[in-house]
Amino acid sequence: MLVFIKLGGSLITDKSRPRTARREVIQRLAAEVAQAREQRPDLALVLGHGSGSFGHVEAQRYGTARGVSTPAEWRGMAEVWRVADLLNRIIIDVFAEAGIPVMRFSPSSGGIGQSGRVVALPSEPVRMALEGGLVPVVYGDVMLDQERGGMIASTEASFGYLAARLKPERILLAGLERGVYSDFPPGRSVIPVLTRRDWETLRGQVGASANSDVTGGMASKVQGMLDLIGTMPGLRAFIYSGESDGATRRALLGEAVEGTWIQD
Ligand code: IPE
Repeated sequence: MLVFIKLGGSLITDKSRPRTARREVIQRLAAEVAQAREQRPDLALVLGHGSGSFGHVEAQRYGTARGVSTPAEWRGMAEVWRVADLLNRIIIDVFAEAGIPVMRFSPSSGGIGQSGRVVALPSEPVRMALEGGLVPVVYGDVMLDQERGGMIASTEASFGYLAARLKPERILLAGLERGVYSDFPPGRSVIPVLTRRDWETLRGQVGASANSDVTGGMASKVQGMLDLIGTMPGLRAFIYSGESDGATRRALLGEAVEGTWIQD
């Protein structure tokens, strides 16, 4: 079974401190992924991760998500790329140390964007790496954009492109929030299952995000997943908290975890 899993930037970095990785959390998550792989040798994974207090800070500073045209903006985009890459390096090393055969496929080097959308990303090398039993890694990155010069490609955007070609059964999105709340704020009740039809009425209640960022908050995450699921019947996405011990291992194994399933 093929599963895409994203470790959100808010989970793996300290959003209140620039360029600060939550190394212990990353180590725990790597151990959980390793355990799940041991228990289910047929589990094929594409690992993704956000940028949190690495790329988002620089991306905001240079306005990269709005497009890149001046020399300062081009230099800024290169800086966002470098900082996002620093976090990726940490993830790659920690996961490799946990025994996971990770291999990076940088969206910035293989991808092309158009008006902020990912329109090309080499999926064949990712498929071949999966076939060899590796865990391909993609992440929130900058991307060259045919209309705007440059853009920010969120992990979800790269996942969306790859999902259409590699056909995962599930996309797991681990963050800090326990799922999609029907009452945000205060965020006491988690919606267990959210369909396109529910979304019509819930959209207004869910709100943007606790921590707004350049690639959008919870509402845009849900919308993105619903759009994707609409084109890929059978695909389900799960939003849950990677903060609670064992949740990632259990989610990967298909065991019950608190969170929100997004499905058609
Ligand atoms: C953001 O990627 C990428 C950059 C700002 C460079 P994501 O959207 O995947 O990251 P998080 O999860 O919000 O941090």
